[in-house]
Amino acid sequence: MDWGMKNRLSKLINPEDGRAVWLAVDHGYFLGPVSKLEEPAKTIKPLIPYTDALMLTRGTLRNCVDTGLKIPVILRVSGGNSIVGPALSNEGIQTSMEEAIRLNASAVAISIYIGTEHEHKTLLSLGQLVNEGQRYGMPVLAVTAVGKELEKRDARYLSLCCRIAAELGAQMVKTYYCDEFSKVVKSCPVPLVIAGGPKLKTGMDALELAYAAVREGASGVDMGRNIWQSEKAVGMIRAIRAIVHENAPVKEAAKFLK
Ligand code: 5RP
Repeated sequence: MDWGMKNRLSKLINPEDGRAVWLAVDHGYFLGPVSKLEEPAKTIKPLIPYTDALMLTRGTLRNCVDTGLKIPVILRVSGGNSIVGPALSNEGIQTSMEEAIRLNASAVAISIYIGTEHEHKTLLSLGQLVNEGQRYGMPVLAVTAVGKELEKRDARYLSLCCRIAAELGAQMVKTYYCDEFSKVVKSCPVPLVIAGGPKLKTGMDALELAYAAVREGASGVDMGRNIWQSEKAVGMIRAIRAIVHENAPVKEAAKFLK
């Protein structure tokens, strides 16, 4: 692996503990102004001090984030779909590698939709992005997206998705936590982070999720709604940080929610 690629990765996953807390605020690319992210600048700003990287689109980055940002950016480069369109899986690459470099991104992110009518297209897009990433030293984060079919999230399906993403060259994979998650981790040769998915019933549920994921081998989280849709968004990200970077037990981390 070349120096530029290694350097970018070292900004995203702390080389000391091999862990990462990323904040996902890219949801608008297919959901529009989703609840609590209507004004991204207001949502994002107080969370930045506790985040290792921001995952977002070029539009949100340019319009809602200060250019003095000190943490790395994971640029969402796939899209072309919407929640009201015919198929959420119909994504292509909508932001170029040149643009990612211009924006000083530390990685690019793309969703793959395995088992859908657009599986082939999204996997070839992943391959294309990895080829370009190799040329410029840009890591690729593959997101094993399930669209509206949340029930697909089991170890068998997610192992298949994560392994395919890694085989096609993604340097990092973002997936979901599931029962028997350690099987997913073991069969994926690159670092895995988990999404939080739709907001869980309680903040404690989200902390349990993060705790179980890292205990079973995840490198960390790339969470969105369970952080910024919480009434205590700052407390939530601080608690997750304590779990991911300090191996804090859930009860101890929960002090940030008081
Ligand atoms: C959408 C994404 C989102 O960034 C991802 O789902 C993470 O956010 P959340 O924790 O809200 O699920 O990649 O495809």
